[in-house]
Amino acid sequence: MNKNISVHIKNQPLVGTIERDSFLFQEEFMQLGIGKTYCVLNYGCQANVRDGETLSGMLEMMSFQKVDKIEEADVVIFNTCAVRQTAEEHVFGKLSAYKSYKENHPGRIFALCGCMAQEENVIERLLKKHPYVDLIFGTHNIDRFPQLLQRVYEEKQTIVEVEAKPGGVIENLPVERSSSYKAFVNIMYGCNKFCTYCIVPYTRGRERSRLKENIIEEIRTFQAQGGKEVTLLGQNVNAYGKDLKLEDGFTDLLIDCAKTGVDRIRFYTSHPKDYSVTTIEAMRDYPNIMKSLHLPVQSGNNEILRRMGRGYTIEHYFQLFDDLKARIPEITFTTDIIVGFPGETDEQFEDTLKLVDHCKFDLAYTFVYSPREGTPAAKMPDDIPLSVKKERLQTLNARISSYAKANNETYVGKTLEVLCEGPSKKNLAILSGYSKENKLVNFKGENIQAGELVNVEITDAKSYTLDGQAV
Ligand code: 5AD
Ligand code: SF4
Repeated sequence: MNKNISVHIKNQPLVGTIERDSFLFQEEFMQLGIGKTYCVLNYGCQANVRDGETLSGMLEMMSFQKVDKIEEADVVIFNTCAVRQTAEEHVFGKLSAYKSYKENHPGRIFALCGCMAQEENVIERLLKKHPYVDLIFGTHNIDRFPQLLQRVYEEKQTIVEVEAKPGGVIENLPVERSSSYKAFVNIMYGCNKFCTYCIVPYTRGRERSRLKENIIEEIRTFQAQGGKEVTLLGQNVNAYGKDLKLEDGFTDLLIDCAKTGVDRIRFYTSHPKDYSVTTIEAMRDYPNIMKSLHLPVQSGNNEILRRMGRGYTIEHYFQLFDDLKARIPEITFTTDIIVGFPGETDEQFEDTLKLVDHCKFDLAYTFVYSPREGTPAAKMPDDIPLSVKKERLQTLNARISSYAKANNETYVGKTLEVLCEGPSKKNLAILSGYSKENKLVNFKGENIQAGELVNVEITDAKSYTLDGQAV
């Protein structure tokens, strides 16, 4: 049976003023989920995880109950990522795998949101190949989810509501956090950097900052509920407050967050171009700002960096890196690297290996370049054979892993403070959690609850985990 489709795609100029609004929950939706269940499948980055928590918060307000499996859920939300084609294919694959299930359970709702929903070619493909998806909504109208869900139930037709616009800031959104002691707190949305390979500025709109008082209030509320660790989120946190015309907005915010006294503060993601000396000083001076930094570099070669539109040279990156190391010797570094960018020669890739030799990262997220429709790089010939890209990725990963192991070995015999997250996923007899340095520590200990800060003596080191014993 073919369902009717209601499509509402609003294309606004991608410049303009930032709308600020407050979420208002209409009481009529409170009954919608009585006796019903939901499940949110998150793909991609922390921004998506945080959006998933907002959607869960709304569903709980609508009286839905959370379940873990698609088969148990009356409403399934695919909260998608568009950053690489593989991420998209993963979602399309999952939808295909559940095609006959959904057709046999027409009363259950499949909703798709997140970055993929902001792409016109994706909407076309969904409507054509996956018409059993009941609701598609974008990143800019997440606050309209209750209304849209009610329409799906009432109108029994496929609803598409997506807006392309600079984006707004909506406060007072509900949240159902996935952890009671670790919180993601958005400080800004969107990105203005337009790196030539990246789709994010198109799917998440322009940079727009939340007001500091709203951010601090969210942290204080979380802290009052027993929260221990806050991660400040943004695509480029160092640009916080530029749209509000603030001078050095990020450092100022970071210091005020530190002054709340919450046990641990992290921030994610930093951009080398916008990183300021004052931020380095704040990291050094405030004990509750963790000394671990994710600083994506993307490539070790200046010509590739230029064509990526990153806005810095490798000399600038080294200077920043060395300065951070000099002032905060215990700092740990993670990064993102792309291999096989259009035209990347063997020599240019060698420069990335040299960069790794210099920085000896604790961990790096490494990716094969993936052309994204509508980005400037997608117009450059994607001329590196997949076999070469994969070979480079392997070489790079092996190099990174050897440094990561050597770094980890320096912790053996030392005692680290770990925020316990409960039993390890792989072995229920062992506890696990992250240290201040952002190292995943598996450890033995008795009578320790999730959410407790514990001192752990490190007994063994692997490339990406440490083993230890609570002391
Ligand atoms: N291809 C491969 N990797 C990409 N990233 C972003 N866009 C692409 C792309 N088109 C990587 C970058 C970024 C991380 C989140 O994803 O390394 O820092
Ligand atoms: Fe994408 Fe670059 Fe913005 Fe990061 S800084 S989200 S890589 S455009």
